[in-house]
Amino acid sequence: MLTQSPFTQVTSVIRLENVTRAYTMGGRTLYALRGVSLDIGAGEFLAIVGPSGSGKSTLLNLIGGIDKPDTGHVWVDQIHVSAMGENALAKWRGDKIGIVFQFFQLLPTLNALENVMLPMELRNSFANNRRARARAVLERVGLGDRATQLPSELSGGEQQRVAIARALANDPPILLADEPTGNLDTETGQRVIELLAELNQAGKTIVLVTHEEQLARTAKRVIRVRDGHIVEQTR
Ligand SMILES: Nc1ncnc2c1ncn2[C@@H]1O[C@H](COP(=O)(O)OP(=O)(O)O)[C@@H](O)[C@H]1O
Ligand SMILES: [Mg+2]
Repeated sequence: MLTQSPFTQVTSVIRLENVTRAYTMGGRTLYALRGVSLDIGAGEFLAIVGPSGSGKSTLLNLIGGIDKPDTGHVWVDQIHVSAMGENALAKWRGDKIGIVFQFFQLLPTLNALENVMLPMELRNSFANNRRARARAVLERVGLGDRATQLPSELSGGEQQRVAIARALANDPPILLADEPTGNLDTETGQRVIELLAELNQAGKTIVLVTHEEQLARTAKRVIRVRDGHIVEQTR
């Protein structure tokens, strides 16, 4: 077991070391990740591309501490994520990681502003100006005039931008996006990716999972995953 951070370069913010993850279902074992090692630098915009079932979501969930590897190590920002307990992990994630999902996962009874305020309430952050901050973040994603709309009153692209604003609520340095355009038309999806690129320009480290090659090209680096392996890396 590693007890000391293996980071030799301060610029590396995410490191996976020979990570494996398998799922057993009905006596069958499915190998989602078969030994993946990966370094992601601070301020990178990385796209992870691969067909359905190749292990992309598993990889992202391990980085976000939503899931743990069976073997291997996950380090994020000098923290040994794969060795952390649940409570510490939840706190850490609230501060350091913003996550965007394919199906937005907004709370339907809360308006856009309230959805963005929620992570601040959960982390007890920005106590004196949550509403003002949520408004500013909504403006940042181009939705300043939609603050009081319910998710059902917004288009898919708008809902995804609210979800991105929610992911930014606690100003995390790292944003993870799992097929964020999978439920959007091509043009709306491209705009969402451009928003991610802008956030990257502003200093966020972004890890984007997608099966759309075209969208991946916006990222600064693309890696390909197939059958639980990284098969190609391009810089
Ligand atoms: N919770 C789970 N239970 C059982 N099998 C799973 C689970 N999550 C993922 N898998 C399996 O692991 C493999 C990789 O899944 P996933 O990481 O979701 O791939 P992708 O996101 O690239 O579509 C697939 O074969 C999938 O069926
Ligand atoms: Mg997936």
